Amino acid sequence: MTTSTLHQALAGQTVVILGGSSGIGLETAHQARSADARVILTGRQRERLDRAARDVDAAGTGILDLGRPAEIERFFTGLAGPVDHVLVSGGGPPYAPLRDIDFDEAERVLDEHLLGALRVTRACVGRVRPGGSLIFITGTHARRPGIGLSIAAIAAAALPVITANLALEIAPIRANCLATGFVDTPLSARILGDAIEQRREVLRATLPIRRVVGPSDLAALALHLMTNTAVTGATFDVDGGQQLIPD
Ligand SMILES: NC(=O)c1ccc[n+]([C@@H]2O[C@H](COP(=O)([O-])OP(=O)(O)OC[C@H]3O[C@@H](n4cnc5c(N)ncnc54)[C@H](OP(=O)(O)O)[C@@H]3O)[C@@H](O)[C@H]2O)c1
Repeated sequence: MTTSTLHQALAGQTVVILGGSSGIGLETAHQARSADARVILTGRQRERLDRAARDVDAAGTGILDLGRPAEIERFFTGLAGPVDHVLVSGGGPPYAPLRDIDFDEAERVLDEHLLGALRVTRACVGRVRPGGSLIFITGTHARRPGIGLSIAAIAAAALPVITANLALEIAPIRANCLATGFVDTPLSARILGDAIEQRREVLRATLPIRRVVGPSDLAALALHLMTNTAVTGATFDVDGGQQLIPD
């Protein structure tokens, strides 16, 4: 799709980004605004959300924690009109070896990530216009067995299947999923701390694409999925080939 076709398809449309105040969500908001879409952003922290909203000149914001079902329902019920696309970003899964897994935390995160996808979708039915889309995000790295990846693996295995089911249930609204490896975002910086530059260097040297994946790579595909009305029920990998190489 050329830039001008993308622009024509998105101009004037409304894109809701759950987890739009940082990282992949915020970059998607920037790219959607460049295509003259209206964007509505959510997050949990008001200050960061307001900063992001000013940054992209958002049409609206909402405080929403994906772990709180009532907030999801309230947010969508409170929208002034129909929307065209919803991107569901959010928090990351905990990485811990078996002996260190905090099962309460794991249950909370899996509930938020997996049942949360169902809750958001149910709240969207009747609010997203036919032919519009929902997009979820998960990981590719946890498809390969690894120490500490069990919880992330549950999410990475389940979300593509959930997405395909939802695509049938909510048609003609479309549902798709992005799967990624390391993305250079504030979440990765928080997880890796001082080790992030070393991780970038390793990935630059070993990934088939010889560079690190950034939020703009994910955002570009998200916009494509919003506008390509032939695509539904699918999961697309944007990981620079990370799943193909040993860690
Ligand atoms: N970065 C990676 O390497 C990577 C790899 C694989 C998958 N992913 C997935 O991609 C998604 C986005 O990651 P990112 O790197 O862009 O993260 P990020 O920079 O931390 O941004 C996350 C966004 O989601 C919001 N958020 C976090 N937890 C939330 C919750 N429980 N309910 C509602 N909103 C929440 C954050 O704002 P508040 O904190 O204010 O709520 C922020 O706006 C995540 O689901 C992550 O698991 C990322």
